Amino acid sequence: MRTDSHLDGSSELRLPERQTHARTTPRVQAFDAWIRGRFVDLNTELEDLYAAQEHRTRVEGVGDALKAALVEEGRELIVALLEEGNTDEGFDRNFELLGNVGYYMAACRRHEITEPSRERVSPLTEASALALHLGASVGTVPRFVSSHMETYNRAVDGVYRTFTWREDETIFLDYNTRSALAYMRAADALVRVHPMGVSHPATHDLLVDARRALDDVLALNVELAERLDVTEFFHCVRPYYKPYRVGSQEYRGANAGDFAAFNQVDVLLGLCSPADPGYSAIVMEKFLYLTPKEQDRLRDTFRYPNLLDSFLEQHDLADRPWFIAHASAFLEVCASHAAVARQHHDVLVGDFITAPSQSLAESELHGITASGPPLEVLLRSLEKLRDLRSAADRDDISTRHADIERLRRLVAAS
Ligand code: HEM
Repeated sequence: MRTDSHLDGSSELRLPERQTHARTTPRVQAFDAWIRGRFVDLNTELEDLYAAQEHRTRVEGVGDALKAALVEEGRELIVALLEEGNTDEGFDRNFELLGNVGYYMAACRRHEITEPSRERVSPLTEASALALHLGASVGTVPRFVSSHMETYNRAVDGVYRTFTWREDETIFLDYNTRSALAYMRAADALVRVHPMGVSHPATHDLLVDARRALDDVLALNVELAERLDVTEFFHCVRPYYKPYRVGSQEYRGANAGDFAAFNQVDVLLGLCSPADPGYSAIVMEKFLYLTPKEQDRLRDTFRYPNLLDSFLEQHDLADRPWFIAHASAFLEVCASHAAVARQHHDVLVGDFITAPSQSLAESELHGITASGPPLEVLLRSLEKLRDLRSAADRDDISTRHADIERLRRLVAAS
C-alpha cells in the first residue's frame, strides 16, 4: 500500500471535494475514489503475490480472495452508476468515467477474472453495459484507451490514476505522456506549414520547432529506456493493456501510438502516404481509439499535401536561399523522426518486449501485445513502420528513400 500523505488508513484520497470531483455526482465520486485508492491497493497486492512465485506469469488460482473483492466492490459501485443513468456531465467527465470502468475491466482481464478467448460475452455484465453507454455518448470505443492513461489522466494533488503503486508504472506513464506531448508539439508546428507554403519566411521557424520537439521525444524515450526495469514493465505494467471484451465484442488493448500526432508527423513530412493501403489500414484501425478531437486532427491531416513533395515540386528554385535553408531544416526534422522510430523499435520494443518474450513458453505468449496478433506478425509490421519513418533503402516496400536522397543532393548542389 502507498504510504504517503495522500492516503489515510482506508486508502481514500483526502482532498477537498472541489479539487477532486467538481461537477460530478456522489456515485461518480465514490467510484473515482475507489479506483484511485482501494482498487490500486488490490492490484498491487495481487502483483506482489505473482512476483513472489517462481513462475511469475502464473495468475490463475493466486489471490482468489483479493480478486473476488476486486470484482464485487467494483460491481456494486457500477450498479449504482447504472441506476443513476447518464447524468451528462460533459465530455471530460463522461470520458473520465469511461476510463474508470475501463480500468476496472482491464484489471479483471489482467488477473484472468475474464479472458476473451475463454468467453463469448464478458461476464462483467454491468460494467459492459455502463462502458457501452459511455462509449456511445463520447464517440470512442467502450474501453479504456491511451488518452485515459495520459492526456486525460487527471491528477489530484500530483497523483494521477494508475493500476498499481509500483514505481515502474509511473515511470512508464510519465515518460509516455511527456513524449506524446512533445510529438504533439511537432505535429502542431508541421500542420501550420501547409497554409503558408514551404517558402514562407516563418516556415523555417516551424521546421526548427518540429525538429526540437522530436529531439525532445528522443531524449525522453532514451531516458525511459534507462530508467524502466524490463522485468517490472513486462510482468507488472504491460499486462494491464491487454485486449478485453465489452459485451460480446473484443477490443484491442491500449497502445502508446493512439494519438493523431504520430501519424500527422508521418504524413505531413511525406514519409508515409495515405495512398499506401497498409499504412492507411493502420490509421483507420486507430480512429475509434482516439478522442473525437484527435479523430478530427487525424482526418484533417489526410487532406493536406506533404512537405517532401512540396520541396521536390519546386526543384527549379533549389538555388534560392530560402530553399536551401528550409529544405535543410526539413531534412533535419526527417532525421529526428527517423532516430525516434529506430530507438522505439530497436530499443523500446526490442529490449522491453522481444527480449523478455524469448524466455516464455508459446502458451504464455498469448495476449502479450496490445493489438493481439502473434508477436512475430506485430514485429514485422512495426519494422515496416520504422523503415517508412526512416526512409530506409528497402526494395520490398515503397519508402521515400530515393526522394529524400534527391532532396539532399539538391541542397548539397546549391
Ligand atoms: C517501454 C516503452 C515502450 C514499449 C515497450 C513500446 C512497445 C510498443 C509496441 C509493442 C507497439 C505495438 C502495439 C501493440 O502492442 O500491439 C507499440 C506501438 C507504438 N508505440 Fe510504443 N512502446 C513504448 C513506448 C512508446 C513511447 C514512449 C512512444 C512515443 C510517445 C511510443 C510510440 C508508439 C507508436 C507511435 C506506436 C504505434 C505504431 C503506429 O501505429 O504508429 N511507444 N509500441
